[in-house]
Amino acid sequence: DTETSDFVIDDKIVERIFKPRNEFSHKGTYGKVTIAGGSYGKIGAAVLATKSALKMGTGLTFSLAPKCGYEILQTSCPEAMFIEGGENHVNQFDIDETSVVGIGPGLGQNPETEKSLLQFLKKYSKPLILDADALNIISKDKKGLELIPKRSIITPHPKEFERLFGVTKDSFDRAEWARKKAHELQIYIILKDHHTQIITPDGNVFYNITGNAGLAKGGSGDVLTGILSSLLAQGYSEEDAAVFGVWFHGKAAEFAAEKHSKEAMLPTDVINEFGNVFEELN
Ligand code: APR
Ligand code: MG
Repeated sequence: DTETSDFVIDDKIVERIFKPRNEFSHKGTYGKVTIAGGSYGKIGAAVLATKSALKMGTGLTFSLAPKCGYEILQTSCPEAMFIEGGENHVNQFDIDETSVVGIGPGLGQNPETEKSLLQFLKKYSKPLILDADALNIISKDKKGLELIPKRSIITPHPKEFERLFGVTKDSFDRAEWARKKAHELQIYIILKDHHTQIITPDGNVFYNITGNAGLAKGGSGDVLTGILSSLLAQGYSEEDAAVFGVWFHGKAAEFAAEKHSKEAMLPTDVINEFGNVFEELN
């Protein structure tokens, strides 16, 4: 058995990871993100993830979503470009190779979406961010887990984790399973919860202590997907993106709670606090 370590994500770790923006840079420096998601009635999830990727500092952001989300996305996220991925649900993942791809927010589980996602995964080999219905679709396929590209980051909440890997007793049991699976599949597992844990393929565990119960609302996870996709596109390693991204999400939630209360804060408010987190870091 190789040696593994557990860490609490503290200021030292965060300061080591964070890369301030270089004055002599251009949009190419900060990468491209494509958020693939949305379906009729769940375009909001795609909006949140896209807006989050934009606000995190990505150079160029695309949203691959069904046509029914065209006006919504172009209006709420004018800085992002729209790629039509179907009529009312996504049925193709024709994504340019230079983007970092975050898949899942609001994606839905239409059989056409499922088929096209599995086909896409069969030929795609770069690290991906996989969340929400992307994970649910993978869970339903016997060979789904094997299709996840090495070094990808997956972001299951406890239910999604159990769909992927089977029922667990409690959060300790889940973390142990996650350690095994992250190693086996050579992926990063972000176990989302009150205290989110990041499990690396080497079996290291990072515990996050930022955030609050104001995040216990539909849409909070979509914001995290946008953050992670952006950090990967900006050149952070998978491990650094996962650790820093989860910490950043929680920190923005703390600013949002201060201003709005845990009750009234919305995932959109969390995105609007990114600037305050960056100000503190810079
Ligand atoms: N304390 C701290 N953080 C919390 C708390 C809490 N009490 N509750 C939730 N969070 C954080 C989690 O750590 C995670 O980062 O909020 C986020 C919630 O993410 P999800 O569970 O994915 O929630 P949601 O945004 O609703 O997901 C959107 O995807 O997972 C599917 O079924 C889900 O359709 C929904 C969609
Ligand atoms: Mg979610």
